[in-house]
Amino acid sequence: MAELAEVAPRGRYLRVCALTGAGISVAAGLGTFRGPDGLWTIAPDVERAMHAELLPGNVDALWAVWGGMRDTAERSGPTPAHRALAAAGAAVITQNIDGLHQAAGSPGVVELHGSAGRASCLDPFCGWRGPAAQARELDPPACPSCGGPARPAVVLFGENLDTGNLTAAHALAASCDLFLAIGTSGRVAPAAWLAPAARQAGALCVNIDLHPDGELDPAFHARVVGDAQDVLVSWALS
Ligand code: APR
Repeated sequence: MAELAEVAPRGRYLRVCALTGAGISVAAGLGTFRGPDGLWTIAPDVERAMHAELLPGNVDALWAVWGGMRDTAERSGPTPAHRALAAAGAAVITQNIDGLHQAAGSPGVVELHGSAGRASCLDPFCGWRGPAAQARELDPPACPSCGGPARPAVVLFGENLDTGNLTAAHALAASCDLFLAIGTSGRVAPAAWLAPAARQAGALCVNIDLHPDGELDPAFHARVVGDAQDVLVSWALS
């Protein structure tokens, strides 16, 4: 199997864009969603924390699942793969809510699916938004402004992504010369639309996946099968 450095020699690309998914944070102790050892398989109640239509009844599950992931991430800190992307100066678009890219030093991270480090009040007429830690000072977590229930600022199925994030992500994908999709099954739109945009703009598109499931999306020129922790560190140091 080719190494990433063979497929995409480090010095040849000046505008690297990385789209990351749950796979890059596995080494930090966080789970993936799909696949035999995915959270959806081993902990079906996680599913309850992913659907906006179940609000406000599932707000406890949102804090348990997304807040729990954030706590795990904060305890473990960024992985070598997160640090490799920061060291390589890659622009990062992530589907993860764990804050590990920022912790590794990547600037301007586009958090397509929001962040468990932030929270918002469930009452739209209150409209409070702020650090999740403020809401979590109360048990159960509550809006520090009106005292009503608050939720992690994570995008759930059935909710729209932030249009500013979408625009920023598309602009990064459409202006890079190397697009790396790392540790993501590529099953969820609109993140899955970014590789075709990068391809159309002329970037070399490479998929990095440890347990690829199915054929490689035609938007990609190549796939490197391996652990992101190994693949990215060796590439960044090459
Ligand atoms: N290195 C590289 N890839 C890995 C590793 C690893 N160490 N471990 C797992 N993977 C790969 C798996 O093979 C899989 O292809 O990471 C991918 C994880 O896929 P998913 O579980 O579908 O996670 P993700 O793509 O991030 O899901 C996207 O779906 O559930 C929603 O909102 C949630 O942001 C999430 C979105």
